[in-house]
Amino acid sequence: MAEVGELFPVPDGLDLAEAIALHSDGSTAQGLVEKAKIDSGDWVLVEAAAGGVGSLLVQLARAAGARVVGAARGVRKLELIRELGADAAVDYSDPGWTDRVLEATGGAGPDVVFDGVGGWIGRAAFEVTARGGRFSVHGASSGEVTLIDPGEARFQGVEVIGIEQLFDFGPNLVRWAEQIMSQAAAGLVRPVIGQTFALERAADAHAAIENRTALGKTLLLL
Ligand SMILES: NC(=O)c1ccc[n+]([C@@H]2O[C@H](COP(=O)([O-])OP(=O)(O)OC[C@H]3O[C@@H](n4cnc5c(N)ncnc54)[C@H](OP(=O)(O)O)[C@@H]3O)[C@@H](O)[C@H]2O)c1
Repeated sequence: MAEVGELFPVPDGLDLAEAIALHSDGSTAQGLVEKAKIDSGDWVLVEAAAGGVGSLLVQLARAAGARVVGAARGVRKLELIRELGADAAVDYSDPGWTDRVLEATGGAGPDVVFDGVGGWIGRAAFEVTARGGRFSVHGASSGEVTLIDPGEARFQGVEVIGIEQLFDFGPNLVRWAEQIMSQAAAGLVRPVIGQTFALERAADAHAAIENRTALGKTLLLL
Protein backbone atom coordinates (compact mmCIF):
# COMPACT_ATOMS: atom_id res chain seq x y z
CA MET A 1 0.00 0.00 0.00
CA ALA A 2 1.43 3.40 -0.99
CA GLU A 3 1.31 6.40 1.35
CA VAL A 4 -0.43 9.51 -0.06
CA GLY A 5 2.86 11.43 0.15
CA GLU A 6 4.53 8.85 -2.10
CA LEU A 7 2.11 9.39 -4.99
CA PHE A 8 2.92 11.51 -8.01
CA PRO A 9 1.59 11.62 -11.57
CA VAL A 10 3.38 9.68 -14.30
CA PRO A 11 4.71 12.39 -16.62
CA ASP A 12 3.32 12.74 -20.14
CA GLY A 13 5.46 10.87 -22.62
CA LEU A 14 5.96 7.85 -20.36
CA ASP A 15 3.63 4.86 -20.34
CA LEU A 16 2.75 2.94 -17.19
CA ALA A 17 5.00 -0.03 -17.97
CA GLU A 18 7.98 2.31 -18.40
CA ALA A 19 7.10 4.15 -15.19
CA ILE A 20 6.92 0.87 -13.26
CA ALA A 21 10.22 -0.26 -14.73
CA LEU A 22 11.80 2.98 -13.53
CA HIS A 23 10.13 3.38 -10.17
CA SER A 24 12.45 1.35 -7.94
CA ASP A 25 15.54 0.71 -10.09
CA GLY A 26 15.50 4.29 -11.34
CA SER A 27 15.25 5.97 -7.97
CA THR A 28 18.02 3.71 -6.67
CA ALA A 29 20.25 4.53 -9.67
CA GLN A 30 19.54 8.24 -9.32
CA GLY A 31 20.45 8.12 -5.62
CA LEU A 32 23.65 6.18 -6.24
CA VAL A 33 24.79 8.67 -8.87
CA GLU A 34 24.02 11.61 -6.56
CA LYS A 35 25.96 10.06 -3.65
CA ALA A 36 28.96 9.10 -5.82
CA LYS A 37 29.37 12.72 -7.02
CA ILE A 38 30.38 11.89 -10.58
CA ASP A 39 32.46 14.60 -12.26
CA SER A 40 32.40 15.25 -15.97
CA GLY A 41 35.27 13.28 -17.52
CA ASP A 42 35.37 10.64 -14.77
CA TRP A 43 35.71 7.02 -15.79
CA VAL A 44 32.88 4.99 -14.26
CA LEU A 45 32.74 1.19 -14.01
CA VAL A 46 29.24 -0.30 -13.70
CA GLU A 47 28.92 -3.99 -12.74
CA ALA A 48 25.88 -5.97 -13.97
CA ALA A 49 25.55 -3.11 -16.43
CA ALA A 50 22.84 -4.84 -18.49
CA GLY A 51 20.61 -5.31 -15.44
CA GLY A 52 17.77 -3.20 -14.05
CA VAL A 53 19.80 -0.77 -11.93
CA GLY A 54 22.98 -1.18 -14.01
CA SER A 55 21.42 -0.22 -17.35
CA LEU A 56 20.21 3.03 -15.78
CA LEU A 57 23.54 3.71 -14.05
CA VAL A 58 25.28 3.47 -17.44
CA GLN A 59 22.92 6.07 -18.91
CA LEU A 60 22.95 8.42 -15.89
CA ALA A 61 26.74 8.34 -15.69
CA ARG A 62 26.96 9.18 -19.42
CA ALA A 63 24.45 11.99 -18.91
CA ALA A 64 26.69 13.34 -16.10
CA GLY A 65 29.54 13.58 -18.60
CA ALA A 66 31.38 10.46 -17.48
CA ARG A 67 33.02 7.85 -19.68
CA VAL A 68 31.63 4.44 -18.88
CA VAL A 69 32.87 0.87 -18.80
CA GLY A 70 29.98 -1.55 -18.43
CA ALA A 71 30.75 -5.04 -17.17
CA ALA A 72 28.45 -8.05 -17.47
CA ARG A 73 28.38 -11.68 -18.60
CA GLY A 74 27.70 -12.76 -22.18
CA VAL A 75 27.60 -11.31 -25.70
CA ARG A 76 23.94 -10.16 -25.66
CA LYS A 77 24.51 -8.14 -22.50
CA LEU A 78 27.69 -6.54 -23.83
CA GLU A 79 25.79 -5.50 -26.99
CA LEU A 80 23.07 -3.88 -24.89
CA ILE A 81 25.64 -2.03 -22.79
CA ARG A 82 27.19 -0.53 -25.95
CA GLU A 83 23.73 0.43 -27.25
CA LEU A 84 23.14 2.29 -23.98
CA GLY A 85 26.16 4.48 -24.71
CA ALA A 86 28.99 2.85 -22.74
CA ASP A 87 32.46 3.61 -24.08
CA ALA A 88 33.59 0.05 -23.38
CA ALA A 89 31.91 -3.23 -22.48
CA VAL A 90 33.80 -5.96 -20.64
CA ASP A 91 32.82 -9.57 -19.90
CA TYR A 92 33.70 -10.41 -16.30
CA SER A 93 33.45 -14.12 -16.96
CA ASP A 94 36.77 -13.61 -18.80
CA PRO A 95 39.54 -14.11 -16.19
CA GLY A 96 41.48 -11.11 -17.55
CA TRP A 97 38.51 -8.75 -17.34
CA THR A 98 40.10 -6.21 -15.00
CA ASP A 99 43.02 -5.85 -17.45
CA ARG A 100 40.40 -4.83 -20.06
CA VAL A 101 39.04 -2.27 -17.57
CA LEU A 102 42.53 -0.86 -17.01
CA GLU A 103 43.16 -0.72 -20.77
CA ALA A 104 39.86 1.11 -21.36
CA THR A 105 40.70 3.69 -18.67
CA GLY A 106 44.21 4.37 -19.95
CA GLY A 107 45.82 2.33 -17.17
CA ALA A 108 44.55 4.45 -14.27
CA GLY A 109 41.40 2.46 -13.43
CA PRO A 110 37.88 3.83 -12.93
CA ASP A 111 37.31 6.94 -10.78
CA VAL A 112 33.94 5.57 -9.70
CA VAL A 113 32.83 1.94 -9.38
CA PHE A 114 29.19 0.89 -8.87
CA ASP A 115 29.34 -2.54 -7.22
CA GLY A 116 25.99 -4.32 -7.28
CA VAL A 117 27.47 -7.82 -7.57
CA GLY A 118 30.02 -8.22 -4.75
CA GLY A 119 31.93 -11.49 -4.32
CA TRP A 120 35.09 -11.92 -6.37
CA ILE A 121 33.79 -9.46 -9.00
CA GLY A 122 33.34 -6.66 -6.46
CA ARG A 123 36.70 -7.42 -4.89
CA ALA A 124 38.51 -7.34 -8.27
CA ALA A 125 36.74 -4.09 -9.18
CA PHE A 126 37.91 -2.48 -5.92
CA GLU A 127 41.49 -3.46 -6.69
CA VAL A 128 41.50 -1.51 -9.97
CA THR A 129 39.70 1.58 -8.63
CA ALA A 130 41.80 4.68 -9.30
CA ARG A 131 43.62 6.44 -6.46
CA GLY A 132 41.33 9.28 -5.34
CA GLY A 133 38.29 7.36 -6.62
CA ARG A 134 34.99 6.23 -5.06
CA PHE A 135 33.88 2.61 -4.67
CA SER A 136 30.11 2.56 -4.22
CA VAL A 137 28.40 -0.63 -3.02
CA HIS A 138 24.67 -1.20 -3.52
CA GLY A 139 24.12 -4.93 -3.84
CA ALA A 140 25.36 -8.49 -3.58
CA SER A 141 23.87 -10.39 -6.53
CA SER A 142 26.74 -12.88 -6.17
CA GLY A 143 25.52 -13.64 -2.64
CA GLU A 144 28.39 -11.84 -0.91
CA VAL A 145 28.57 -8.10 -0.25
CA THR A 146 31.92 -6.34 -0.77
CA LEU A 147 33.36 -5.24 2.56
CA ILE A 148 36.60 -3.28 2.37
CA ASP A 149 38.82 -2.81 5.39
CA PRO A 150 39.07 0.97 6.10
CA GLY A 151 42.87 0.74 6.39
CA GLU A 152 43.10 -0.90 2.99
CA ALA A 153 40.84 1.74 1.46
CA ARG A 154 43.04 4.50 2.95
CA PHE A 155 46.18 2.76 1.67
CA GLN A 156 44.71 2.58 -1.84
CA GLY A 157 43.41 6.17 -1.60
CA VAL A 158 39.84 5.10 -2.35
CA GLU A 159 36.68 6.34 -0.62
CA VAL A 160 34.34 3.42 0.05
CA ILE A 161 30.64 4.30 0.02
CA GLY A 162 29.39 1.13 1.68
CA ILE A 163 26.10 -0.71 1.29
CA GLU A 164 24.80 1.11 4.39
CA GLN A 165 24.26 4.12 2.11
CA LEU A 166 20.98 2.43 1.15
CA PHE A 167 19.62 2.92 4.69
CA ASP A 168 19.44 6.69 4.07
CA PHE A 169 17.71 6.41 0.69
CA GLY A 170 14.10 6.19 2.01
CA PRO A 171 13.26 9.90 2.43
CA ASN A 172 14.63 10.71 -1.05
CA LEU A 173 13.12 7.87 -3.08
CA VAL A 174 10.06 9.80 -4.30
CA ARG A 175 12.19 12.78 -5.37
CA TRP A 176 14.62 10.50 -7.21
CA ALA A 177 11.78 8.54 -8.87
CA GLU A 178 10.24 11.80 -10.12
CA GLN A 179 13.65 12.97 -11.31
CA ILE A 180 14.39 9.85 -13.36
CA MET A 181 10.88 9.70 -14.80
CA SER A 182 11.06 13.29 -16.01
CA GLN A 183 14.44 12.54 -17.64
CA ALA A 184 12.92 9.47 -19.30
CA ALA A 185 9.90 11.48 -20.49
CA ALA A 186 12.35 13.96 -22.03
CA GLY A 187 14.08 11.08 -23.86
CA LEU A 188 17.36 11.44 -21.92
CA VAL A 189 17.17 8.00 -20.28
CA ARG A 190 15.35 4.88 -21.40
CA PRO A 191 14.13 2.07 -19.19
CA VAL A 192 15.19 -1.29 -20.58
CA ILE A 193 12.20 -3.63 -20.35
CA GLY A 194 14.03 -6.72 -21.50
CA GLN A 195 11.18 -9.22 -21.17
CA THR A 196 7.56 -9.38 -20.08
CA PHE A 197 5.50 -12.35 -18.88
CA ALA A 198 1.81 -12.87 -18.27
CA LEU A 199 1.12 -13.14 -14.54
CA GLU A 200 0.39 -16.88 -14.88
CA ARG A 201 3.99 -17.28 -16.12
CA ALA A 202 5.57 -15.65 -13.06
CA ALA A 203 7.63 -18.79 -12.47
CA ASP A 204 9.23 -18.39 -15.94
CA ALA A 205 10.01 -14.75 -15.13
CA HIS A 206 11.75 -15.81 -11.94
CA ALA A 207 13.65 -18.52 -13.84
CA ALA A 208 14.91 -15.97 -16.40
CA ILE A 209 16.16 -13.71 -13.60
CA GLU A 210 17.72 -16.60 -11.72
CA ASN A 211 19.53 -18.08 -14.72
CA ARG A 212 20.84 -14.62 -15.69
CA THR A 213 19.31 -14.57 -19.17
CA ALA A 214 17.07 -11.59 -18.36
CA LEU A 215 18.11 -8.19 -19.71
CA GLY A 216 17.21 -4.96 -17.93
CA LYS A 217 13.90 -5.09 -16.11
CA THR A 218 11.44 -8.02 -16.15
CA LEU A 219 7.73 -7.14 -15.92
CA LEU A 220 4.69 -9.26 -15.14
CA LEU A 221 1.64 -8.17 -17.15
CA LEU A 222 -1.87 -8.22 -15.65
N1 LIG B 1 16.32 -2.54 -7.71
C1 LIG B 1 16.52 -1.71 -6.68
O1 LIG B 1 15.85 -0.72 -6.50
C2 LIG B 1 17.66 -2.00 -5.71
C3 LIG B 1 17.75 -1.26 -4.53
C4 LIG B 1 18.82 -1.49 -3.68
C5 LIG B 1 19.76 -2.47 -3.99
N2 LIG B 1 19.61 -3.21 -5.12
C6 LIG B 1 20.60 -4.25 -5.42
O2 LIG B 1 21.21 -3.91 -6.66
C7 LIG B 1 21.62 -5.09 -7.33
C8 LIG B 1 21.08 -5.06 -8.73
O3 LIG B 1 19.66 -5.14 -8.66
P1 LIG B 1 18.81 -5.33 -9.97
O4 LIG B 1 17.40 -5.48 -9.54
O5 LIG B 1 19.14 -4.27 -10.94
O6 LIG B 1 19.30 -6.75 -10.51
P2 LIG B 1 19.91 -7.07 -11.93
O7 LIG B 1 21.20 -6.32 -12.06
O8 LIG B 1 18.88 -6.84 -12.98
O9 LIG B 1 20.20 -8.62 -11.81
C9 LIG B 1 21.32 -9.07 -11.12
C10 LIG B 1 22.50 -9.30 -12.08
O10 LIG B 1 23.65 -9.57 -11.32
C11 LIG B 1 24.56 -10.26 -12.13
N3 LIG B 1 25.25 -11.32 -11.38
C12 LIG B 1 26.58 -11.39 -11.21
N4 LIG B 1 26.91 -12.46 -10.49
C13 LIG B 1 25.76 -13.11 -10.23
C14 LIG B 1 25.46 -14.32 -9.54
N5 LIG B 1 26.43 -15.06 -8.97
N6 LIG B 1 24.18 -14.71 -9.46
C15 LIG B 1 23.20 -13.96 -9.99
N7 LIG B 1 23.43 -12.79 -10.67
C16 LIG B 1 24.71 -12.38 -10.78
C17 LIG B 1 23.75 -10.86 -13.32
O11 LIG B 1 24.16 -10.13 -14.49
P3 LIG B 1 25.35 -10.77 -15.39
O12 LIG B 1 24.81 -12.10 -15.89
O13 LIG B 1 25.58 -9.77 -16.44
O14 LIG B 1 26.49 -10.95 -14.45
C18 LIG B 1 22.32 -10.52 -12.96
O15 LIG B 1 21.54 -10.29 -14.10
C19 LIG B 1 21.09 -6.27 -6.50
O16 LIG B 1 22.14 -6.78 -5.71
C20 LIG B 1 20.02 -5.63 -5.64
O17 LIG B 1 19.83 -6.32 -4.42
C21 LIG B 1 18.60 -2.99 -6.00
